[in-house]
Amino acid sequence: MHVLHVVGARPNFMKAAPLLQALGRALVRQTLVHTGQHYDVNMSDVFFQQLDMPQPDVNLGVGSGSHAQQTAEIMSRFEPVVLERRPDLVLVYGDVNSTVAAALVCSKLQIPVGHVEAGLRSHDRTMPEEVNRLLTDQISDLLFTPSCDADENLRHEGIATAKVHLVGNAMIDTLVRLLPRAEEQQNDGVPEPYALVTLHRPSNVDDLHWLREMLLALSDLSHELTVVFPVHPRTRQRIADLRLQALANGRLSMLEPRPYLEFLALQRRAILVITDSGGIQEETTFLGIPCLTVRENTERPVTTSLGTNVVVGRDIARLRSEVQRILNGGAKRPSPIPLWDGHAAERMAAVIASL
Ligand code: UD1
Repeated sequence: MHVLHVVGARPNFMKAAPLLQALGRALVRQTLVHTGQHYDVNMSDVFFQQLDMPQPDVNLGVGSGSHAQQTAEIMSRFEPVVLERRPDLVLVYGDVNSTVAAALVCSKLQIPVGHVEAGLRSHDRTMPEEVNRLLTDQISDLLFTPSCDADENLRHEGIATAKVHLVGNAMIDTLVRLLPRAEEQQNDGVPEPYALVTLHRPSNVDDLHWLREMLLALSDLSHELTVVFPVHPRTRQRIADLRLQALANGRLSMLEPRPYLEFLALQRRAILVITDSGGIQEETTFLGIPCLTVRENTERPVTTSLGTNVVVGRDIARLRSEVQRILNGGAKRPSPIPLWDGHAAERMAAVIASL
């Protein structure tokens, strides 16, 4: 058995790391391909180091571009690699452009594809990730799901149940493994209590009017509470486009994207998190930290039904009132999510080993 993994963007790395380890323990031959969708040291290299991942065997070096350019570039550079390496199975992760591009190449070459984190749906096709999820699941041969809602979505889309394996959440495997190391981090001297913020979705940062409103709301919040905001490169460009004067003050600190352990430590000690990230909705739920999601929907409904997540929409008044509720001690109390236990990758490796 030869398994080839394809990773490309920051949220892929935390999901692939435990699979690489579990398949390594099972002595499966593995190849790691990085598409180069994310290429900055602090969006990629530092994650490989902190997650103890091997260096990629191949880096396609595609970099940034429009969706069509990036997807097409990944496909044309990946095809010769997969033809040369001839894996028995290709594993793709999550919902980024690298995921759908690699899956499509393999499907046309009739190389089996396994999708890690299959079945999640926001039911909002204006999100590029939703299109990537739908298409990847349709052409995958093995679908590894993190929660029952994902199985239900796949059933509705007519995907044969025999292909679907409910295994739990690989990103939580990495969190469970590295939380003790994160606890040793000093949090860069950030004074508690503080709110932690991340924003990078096109729906939040590409609409400059809305982005301005959000930034002003965060600036307001920082009069009450320290706000720590590691800024994604895409968001940094948009903020520069806005030319806002005097946004950051002593208590709104806008930082470079944090490495994995530093960011996990920041989440762990935050009084609340404001985000539009998918992975952070899951991590905060696992950690029991209140999370406010600035989106109209979520593809991760268990984080709202069982976890600490509240989807506030694009609504500043709602965001403010939910922040107050948390500060007044009214945060949701989470229940454990089945199979989010640090062993999802072992379950996937067992399925793969039995093929
Ligand atoms: C991608 C994923 C998104 C995921 C996010 C995590 C897709 C469609 N989107 O969005 O689902 O949540 O990654 O970060 O795949 N840039 C840099 N350095 C980098 C990478 C990007 O400066 O290392 C800048 C570039 O200007 C680029 C922009 O960020 O144009 C956006 O990068 P891109 O990979 O297109 O999408 P993300 O917004 O990061």
